[in-house]
Amino acid sequence: MDIKTIGVIGAGTMGHGIAQVFAQSGFEVLLVDRTLDLALKGKNQIQKKIDKSVAKGTLSQEQVDSILNHISVFEYLGSLQQAQFIIEAAFESLGVKMAILRKLDQISPPETIFASNTSTLPITKLAAFTNRGDRFIGMHFMNPPPVMKLVEVIRGFLTSDETVKQTLSLCQRLGKIPVEVNDYPGFISNRILMPMINEAIFAYMEGVGTKEGIDTVMKLGMNHPMGPLELADFIGLDVCLSILEILFKELGDPKYRPCPLLRKMVQAGQLGRKTKKGFYDY
Ligand code: NAI
Repeated sequence: MDIKTIGVIGAGTMGHGIAQVFAQSGFEVLLVDRTLDLALKGKNQIQKKIDKSVAKGTLSQEQVDSILNHISVFEYLGSLQQAQFIIEAAFESLGVKMAILRKLDQISPPETIFASNTSTLPITKLAAFTNRGDRFIGMHFMNPPPVMKLVEVIRGFLTSDETVKQTLSLCQRLGKIPVEVNDYPGFISNRILMPMINEAIFAYMEGVGTKEGIDTVMKLGMNHPMGPLELADFIGLDVCLSILEILFKELGDPKYRPCPLLRKMVQAGQLGRKTKKGFYDY
């Protein structure tokens, strides 16, 4: 199948970034959100970002116009009929994704491939909301999608070799580096990242070092671009907690137990950068 048109569901943080990445590589993109206003808001965010690239001289005005011309916005899933490949990037909620996938499965041509950008929900479980388990896959972009090179390509229990092949080839056309992953909680990225962040929070809670000390050791000693506490603030402490809870529940191993300090900070509404207070003040 020659994939030319991509559907993206959800024009939020990830969805609009994913739409930009595909449009920039010459694909036609159909971007859907719950309302036309939300979809337009996503497209406007793309415009704001790429306008800055013109100012910096990294994109020409013609390139910007072409990217924007490749993105059409809609408020109905039914508008995605022409898409050969659809990526779902709606809220991280099983219920929300279930409603979208069930409906989409009914209205989409049988050959259309579905992908989900979920960070934590099992791909096999999401695929089961459709009758196309063989044409269902995880495509986990990193934030922000236009900048980050990596895409985790997650094979569900029923995903076919052909679907994996098509998805890997799409990643290459986008200039991304795909890594194939089997469907286990947290995939590779969060399975390794979140326990590290959690351990840093335990170390801070137990007074092993100051927050600055912990971050400096990981930056200068391990060559990480950001310290784990700084990174937790960037991701959002609520997001970190919910991923750790899933790892703890699904893998059943006490090593994934979320640190009590993380839980308390979330309860207190200190969620990191987005609330201007987390381990650091912003
Ligand atoms: P977000 O909250 O910024 O955006 C979600 C968008 O989906 C919103 O615009 C919302 O209106 C829309 N939406 C919700 N229900 C919808 C429906 N029924 N139909 C159409 N649109 C609908 O969320 P974000 O951060 O973009 O996350 C999206 C997905 O990407 C989640 O599954 C998340 O786990 C995953 N992800 C998030 C990352 C991040 O750093 N934010 C990184 C990698 C994956």
